[in-house]
Amino acid sequence: MDGRVGVPLRVLVFHGSLRAASLNARLAVLAARTIEDKGAQVDVGAMSDFECPSYDLDVEQADGVPAGADAFCRRLKAADAFVIASPEYNASMPGVLKNAIDWTSRIRPQPFNGKQGLLMSASPSMAGGNRGLWSLRIPLEHLGSRVYPDMFSLAQAHEAFAEGGKLTNDVLQKRFEMTIGCFLDLVEAAKHYPGLKKQWVEFLGEHPNRATDRIETTETEAA
Ligand SMILES: Cc1cc2nc3c(=O)[nH]c(=O)nc-3n(C[C@H](O)[C@H](O)[C@H](O)COP(=O)(O)O)c2cc1C
Repeated sequence: MDGRVGVPLRVLVFHGSLRAASLNARLAVLAARTIEDKGAQVDVGAMSDFECPSYDLDVEQADGVPAGADAFCRRLKAADAFVIASPEYNASMPGVLKNAIDWTSRIRPQPFNGKQGLLMSASPSMAGGNRGLWSLRIPLEHLGSRVYPDMFSLAQAHEAFAEGGKLTNDVLQKRFEMTIGCFLDLVEAAKHYPGLKKQWVEFLGEHPNRATDRIETTETEAA
């Protein structure tokens, strides 16, 4: 499996758009195929799988987290890593995606913590939705995800896909595959050789305190 050994990596891949003809869905499908070609297992999701009503603390206290957040949490936990192909709306991430992240962040143990993530976007614009990914990094990194430094943004995406689903531009297609390959190498390394101890604190600047349920320590530290 592309030079990797042992149990295949499991990667949750989903797109952040609700519309049927989503360009980001096409990019997510290409990502899933590429990941499978490199020997990892893929769980393909869609934004509709994780859709939640607008976050409301009163609703959370009365009814708990909605099914969409439960599903997001469960599928994140089952994966070694996640890949999100997200549209850019007004230079930011779609509200439906942020809302799902907010709801899911309420679940303990908080499932984004320590998870490796790769971000990609597709847009008809010349910038390919890249600004939206910078905004998407913020809540994910805040929640302790290890968001891969490289991101892939597909400009003029409405004209970028060939019939079989690959990118028409060979150089871009190779870059796409290389980005995914390098990301999987890192996920593999992080899974088998965890080197960095980390602690997730919900609000930066808070001091770790076991009496406070917002604080989570890694299993190693808790032992
Ligand atoms: C409310 C709204 C805001 C948008 N803002 C941006 C934007 O800031 N940058 C951009 O590149 N495209 C923007 N677009 C266009 C989307 O990139 C385009 O509709 C894209 O196809 C959406 O992703 P999807 O095809 O996966 O649904 C916007 C679209 C909508 C509906």
